[in-house]
Amino acid sequence: MTRRGPLETEAARLLRQRAEVGTGDLFLDGLTREEALRLATAAATGGSKGGAKAAELPSTEAAGAGAAQEALPVLPASYAALRDAAMGCTLCRLSEERTNVVFSDGAENARLMVVGEAPGANEDKTGVPFVGQAGKFLDLLLATADLSREESVYICNVLKCRPPGNRNPMPDEIELCSPYLKKQIELIQPEALLAVGTFAAQLLTGRQKIALGKLRGEVHSYEGVPLVVTYHPAALLRNPKWTRPFWDDLQLLRRIMDSA
Ligand code: URA
Repeated sequence: MTRRGPLETEAARLLRQRAEVGTGDLFLDGLTREEALRLATAAATGGSKGGAKAAELPSTEAAGAGAAQEALPVLPASYAALRDAAMGCTLCRLSEERTNVVFSDGAENARLMVVGEAPGANEDKTGVPFVGQAGKFLDLLLATADLSREESVYICNVLKCRPPGNRNPMPDEIELCSPYLKKQIELIQPEALLAVGTFAAQLLTGRQKIALGKLRGEVHSYEGVPLVVTYHPAALLRNPKWTRPFWDDLQLLRRIMDSA
């Protein structure tokens, strides 16, 4: 079991407090993890707050199912080759405007795989998922359950390239990109999956028409791997009242992992 450091202990205490008493806004953009934690602590204690190719394919709702899947190239069987293939991918229009392909971050021997939606501006610039404000908040929340990218979490997205202006992923983009994610899951073999946000939740549960609020709070299964779905951390920053349900989902995830 991962040992919790002083930063994680402090984050856990802080976020437990946030969940209990409700929250004010937390602005984490442009900060290191330590700076974010300091700011969050101050807030909690009342201190200062400081292409076209894709479009030719039929789009189905169930990404990964159907005819387009058969039209996709066979993906490599090794992790390094899969990553290389994704890095050079031009299957959909998003490749035309990207700065970087955002493949993953975290431990390749991770116990938990977190799946988000798609890179934003910061991620496109750096090539690393969840490095913006939402990502820093996610790291703090995960720390409260003794989970970190350094040791126990592998993190990636449904889409590997940024949709322009952070618009929602389109069905054909999900269909073309999700085989990379599915292969990542197969190769990383996590003990559990956490889908954050509607797109990851609907893709991995295979339940396309169900609202996220109805999918969360229970344990699903993706190819035999326990799957918990919850709100996207960016949504928590907009709607602090969802912090408590997110926290509950993390505890559910922790229980699954502890009993594995
Ligand atoms: N939101 C996501 O879903 N993924 C990222 O990598 C960043 C923000």
